[in-house]
Amino acid sequence: MKKKKNGGHHHHHPHHHYNCPAAAQLHQISLILRCRRGGHYLFPLISALSASVLLFLAAFTLLSSPPPLIERRHLLQLPRRHPPFSSPFSGSAVRDETEEADSGTLTTFRVPERGGNLGHDLWNSPSSEFFYGCSNASDKFRTAEKKTEQNRYLLIVTSGGLNQQRTGITDAVVAAYILNATLVVPKLDQASFWKDSSNFSEIFDVKWFISSLSKDVRIIKQLPTDGGKVITPHSMRVARKCTPSCYEKRVLPVLNKKHAVQLGKFDYRLSNRLDPDLQKLRCRVNYHSLKFTDPIVEMGEKLVHRMRRKSKHFIALHLRFEPDMLAFSGCYYGGGDKERAELSAIRQRWKSLHQKNPEKERRHGRCPLTPEEVGLMLRSLGFGSDVHIYVASGEVYGGEETLAPLKSLFSNFHSKETLANKEELAAFATFSSRMAALDFLVCDESDVFVTNNNGNMARILAGRRRYFGHKPTIRPNAKKLYKLFLGRRNSTWEEFSAKVRSSQIGFMGMPNEVKPGRGEFHENPSSCICETRRNDNAASPDADKKRYTDGSAGDDRSSATAEDEREQYYFSDSETAVPNGLAQVAELDDDEFFSD
Ligand SMILES: *[C@@H]1O[C@H](CO)[C@@H](O)[C@H](O)[C@H]1NC(C)=O
Ligand SMILES: *[C@@H]1O[C@H](CO)[C@@H](O)[C@H](O)[C@H]1NC(C)=O
Ligand SMILES: *[C@@H]1O[C@H](CO)[C@@H](O)[C@H](O)[C@H]1NC(C)=O
Ligand SMILES: *[C@@H]1O[C@H](CO)[C@@H](O)[C@H](O)[C@H]1NC(C)=O
Repeated sequence: MKKKKNGGHHHHHPHHHYNCPAAAQLHQISLILRCRRGGHYLFPLISALSASVLLFLAAFTLLSSPPPLIERRHLLQLPRRHPPFSSPFSGSAVRDETEEADSGTLTTFRVPERGGNLGHDLWNSPSSEFFYGCSNASDKFRTAEKKTEQNRYLLIVTSGGLNQQRTGITDAVVAAYILNATLVVPKLDQASFWKDSSNFSEIFDVKWFISSLSKDVRIIKQLPTDGGKVITPHSMRVARKCTPSCYEKRVLPVLNKKHAVQLGKFDYRLSNRLDPDLQKLRCRVNYHSLKFTDPIVEMGEKLVHRMRRKSKHFIALHLRFEPDMLAFSGCYYGGGDKERAELSAIRQRWKSLHQKNPEKERRHGRCPLTPEEVGLMLRSLGFGSDVHIYVASGEVYGGEETLAPLKSLFSNFHSKETLANKEELAAFATFSSRMAALDFLVCDESDVFVTNNNGNMARILAGRRRYFGHKPTIRPNAKKLYKLFLGRRNSTWEEFSAKVRSSQIGFMGMPNEVKPGRGEFHENPSSCICETRRNDNAASPDADKKRYTDGSAGDDRSSATAEDEREQYYFSDSETAVPNGLAQVAELDDDEFFSD
C-alpha cells in the first residue's frame, strides 16, 4: 500500500493530500454520494463529477511517486491501557509510544499525520450555493407603527450565559410583537454562574437593535414616566415554550391591567414552532439586529485576521470541558478515584442533581467529547496536522495534560490568549460575556466550526452558519462515536476513520441535513432558509413539498434507522431532535452552566 508522506507541504489544503489507496477513495466517494441522497436531482451531476474526480485521483495516485518513507516520531500511537476509553490523563502520546514499545505489544491503531480526503472540499458544504437566508416579512406582517398599543410595555430579564441570553432577547422581540406591546431593551442576567456585570448596551449595539427593528416592534431604552411617576412593572414568569395563544391568555390580561409586565428568567419561553412570519422575525433579530458593540467586533476581527494570516483556512473548536460541565453531566473520563472525588465534590453544588450512571450517559451520547476524541474525529474527517485550530474554551479539566493528545494531533493550536496580548484583552478579560462574544465572532467567521458539546453556543452558531450559507459545522454524533472510541483498540485507522466519517453524515452542517421544522429552531432555522431554483424540476411548485414527504429524500440522515429516529427524540421533548445529548439540561433550573 502506498502512503504518500507529507514532505513538509504545510500550506496545502488537506484535500490535496491523496494519501489513501484508490479503494479507500472509492469508498469515500460512495460515502459522499450516500450523504447527498437528499439532493436527488443533483445526483447524476454529482455522480458524473465524482467519477471524473475518481479518475483524476487514480491517475494522481499512480503518477505521483511516493516520497521516501521516513519514520516520524509524531505518528501517534494511542495508549491501550485506559479502558473503557482513553483518559484525558494519559499524558503525551509520545511517552505512550515508548511504553508501548517497551512492553512489546503491537497496536494497529496509528494515526496518520495527514487527513484523507472526503471527496469534496473540506472547507465548504456541497451545494451550499443553492441556499440562502431569507427573513423578510411577508405582506401580511403588520408593522409596529400600525399595531403597537399605547400603554403596553413588555420588559424581560434574560437568563444564563451569553448565548442563552441571546435566545431570550430574540424571543422577547417576538413576544412583544404577539402582544402588540412596546419592548423595553432587555435586562441581562448579571447574577448567573457567569457573573458578568455588563448591561445590554455594553454587549450589543443598542442603537442598531432599536433602529433595525423599528418596523417590527417598537423598542425603547427605559419605561416612560407617568406624569413624573415611574411605572413599576408587574413581575411574572411564563411557562417554558409558551405559545402565542398562551401569551394572549396569560400575559395580555395582566398587561392590560398593569400596563407594564416584566418577565423573569426569560430563556426558551416562546414555543419552538411558530408561524413562518414570526420565525422570520426571530431570524431578523438574531441574525441581523443583534450586533456586538464596536469594541467587541473590532477585537473579534483582529483575532480572525490573525488566524487568516497564519493560514488561508482555519477550524474553530468550541471545547467545553470545564470541571463544572463534566461534574454536571455526570460523565466519567477515566481519571480514576481522583477524578471521581473531584467531580463528585463539585456535584454537591446542585441539590436537585441525582446520581447518574456515567456509562449510560456516555452510551446515550450525553458526554462531551474529550479533546483527544475531537482530534481523532477531525483527523478521520480529513483534517491533517497542518491545519490551524482556534480553540474557544474555558478552564479545561486536567489542564495541559488533557489537551496534550489534541495538540499532538494538531500542533497549530491558537486561542484568544495566544493571538492577543494582555493589554489588548484587558477590556474583555474580566467580563465573561465579552470574552464569549469574542469567541462567538471567531467561531462564526471560521471556515469550519467544530464543537464537542451540544450547548447553547453550539446550537446558535449551527443555525447561524446554516443561515449564512451553510458553512461547515461539525457536531459530534456522540452516540455513534462513543462505540467507535470504545472499540478503537481493535480496529485499524482505516476502519476506524471510515466509521467516523459515516457516523458523521447528517452532522456536518450541510443543506437539508435536518428536516424543516425538526430540531430546535435556533439550530435549524428552516423558515429562514430558501433555495434557489436549480433547474426546471426544482422550479415546480411542489418540488419542495415532495422532497420532504416522500420519506427518503430531503432527509440526509439517510443512514438513520428506525432506532436512530427514536434515539433522536430520546433526550429532548418531541419538539426537538438534536444530534447529541445535553439538550435536556436546558429544561432544568440549574442550567446556567450550559447557558454558554
Ligand atoms: C429583503 O429586504 C431587503 C430590504 O428591505 C431587500 O434589500 C432584499 O432584497 C429583500 N430580500 C429578499 C430575498 O426579498
Ligand atoms: C394586535 O394587533 C392586531 C392588529 O391591530 C390585532 O389583530 C390583534 O388582535 C392584536 N393582538 C393583541 C394581542 O392585542
Ligand atoms: C450600562 O452601563 C454603562 C457603563 O457602566 C452605563 O453608562 C449605562 O448607563 C448603563 N446602561 C443602562 C441602561 O443601565
Ligand atoms: C476487542 O477484541 C477482543 C478480542 O478479540 C474482544 O473480546 C473485545 O470484545 C473487543 N472489544 C471491542 C470493544 O470490540
